[in-house]
Amino acid sequence: MTRDLTPAQIVSELDAFIVGQAAAKRAVAIAVRNRWRRKQLAPELRDEVAPKNILLIGPTGVGKTEIARRLAKLVRSPIVKVEASKFTEVGYVGRDVEGMIRDLVDAALNMVKQEQRDAVREEAAAKAEERLLDLLLPKSEEDDEKRSRNRERFRAMLREGRLEEREVEVSYEASAAPPAGLNMLGGAPGGPPQGGPGGFDLQGLFERLGGKKQVTRTMTVREARELLIREEAEKSIDPEKAQAEAIARAQSDGIVFLDEIDKICVDRERGGAPDVSRQGVQRDLLPLVEGTTVQTRYGLVKTDHVLFVAAGAFHVAKPSDLIPELQGRFPIRVELDSLGEEEFRRILSEPRASLTRQYAALLATEELTLSWSEEGIAAVARLACKVNETTANIGARRLHTMIEKLLEPELFEAPTRRGETVTIDAALVEERLSELVADEDLSRYIL
Ligand SMILES: Nc1ncnc2c1ncn2[C@@H]1O[C@H](COP(=O)(O)OP(=O)(O)O)[C@@H](O)[C@H]1O
Ligand SMILES: [Mg+2]
Repeated sequence: MTRDLTPAQIVSELDAFIVGQAAAKRAVAIAVRNRWRRKQLAPELRDEVAPKNILLIGPTGVGKTEIARRLAKLVRSPIVKVEASKFTEVGYVGRDVEGMIRDLVDAALNMVKQEQRDAVREEAAAKAEERLLDLLLPKSEEDDEKRSRNRERFRAMLREGRLEEREVEVSYEASAAPPAGLNMLGGAPGGPPQGGPGGFDLQGLFERLGGKKQVTRTMTVREARELLIREEAEKSIDPEKAQAEAIARAQSDGIVFLDEIDKICVDRERGGAPDVSRQGVQRDLLPLVEGTTVQTRYGLVKTDHVLFVAAGAFHVAKPSDLIPELQGRFPIRVELDSLGEEEFRRILSEPRASLTRQYAALLATEELTLSWSEEGIAAVARLACKVNETTANIGARRLHTMIEKLLEPELFEAPTRRGETVTIDAALVEERLSELVADEDLSRYIL
């Protein structure tokens, strides 16, 4: 289901969210297009073409993660993000790296199921409406004609949204919750790798044994409708088929974003004994990147065509400090530019979901209007840049703390200031932030 976007289209879509970083955008666009190209090949050749994995090199907060995240969304690929450094932690067991592939399949399955639910949504909504009417109308002895007239009257009211707050008693299937403690062992999504060696996972086992249980609860029509639509849609999903599709999707479209890859490089300059643990992690990662088969709860997954995007600052270690086999698996290297005042100004104003728009929208929910002046935005960018220079350079991440601090009064008082308009101009920004910025000690803590 990957959309067949051309590299130029991918870059231009990414441009809507990410400022600058043209080289990195081009690289990921090419990698994605190559996958599409591979799928057009004859089977004999198709299997020979390995993905061209990418190494994104750049300081923190310049958009590495953001590019991978947006890309995956754009081309509708399942993606997981893993911090390579977590595998060097105490208690790490070699096989745990395979957990990322299991997570990838889970992500793919969620995606497939969501698509299938969306595809039958209309049908499911119609069925849910009938069930809602059953719940709203009491079973009575009245004659058929009267009952059906009544039903249509309710249907009309329902569609006009006049019954949204009415309460109904719904019984539905809920997956039984595992007993306390079991969840921890099974691993939370996005948390520690799931299951133990060989893909054995307690959560899945429990679901199969425990099955579903029927529960009854009182809720509003509004709530009930969503629940019933979901339940009706769920009925039309063939779980076996969805799982097979998820595995296929993970294999051919999956993206693994390996963050902080530089943290598992062995720092040769520091001297001393080689860091066994870090090199060990690289050795464990290698088979996944080279292509291996991983056991998951839905079946075997081949990693040969999974795209790996690794990222790191590489301040101390260099890509050449990775073990040679791994270096060879990341042939595309791109450096991301560090961001300055001008980029910050653009990041604040250009992207569709820029911070300035986000905060304006948040406050608009309470009828407080934020109006950003260009000079105001420029002042935030300038001050953010200054704090990055004097304390630590955390890139565009600095903008988040700056804006939160800047808008603190409005964020607190909004409920009592309905109808007001606040203009964020340079004077206001200076007044609220410049003292903090000037005081290095203070800004180290607050900004
Ligand atoms: N080039 C950029 N364009 C737009 N937003 C950016 C850019 N770089 C960073 N950001 C924003 O800064 C934050 C941190 O970026 P992220 O991609 O997580 O950094 P990193 O390079 O450390 O992975 C995110 O909220 C992101 O939206
Ligand atoms: Mg990151």
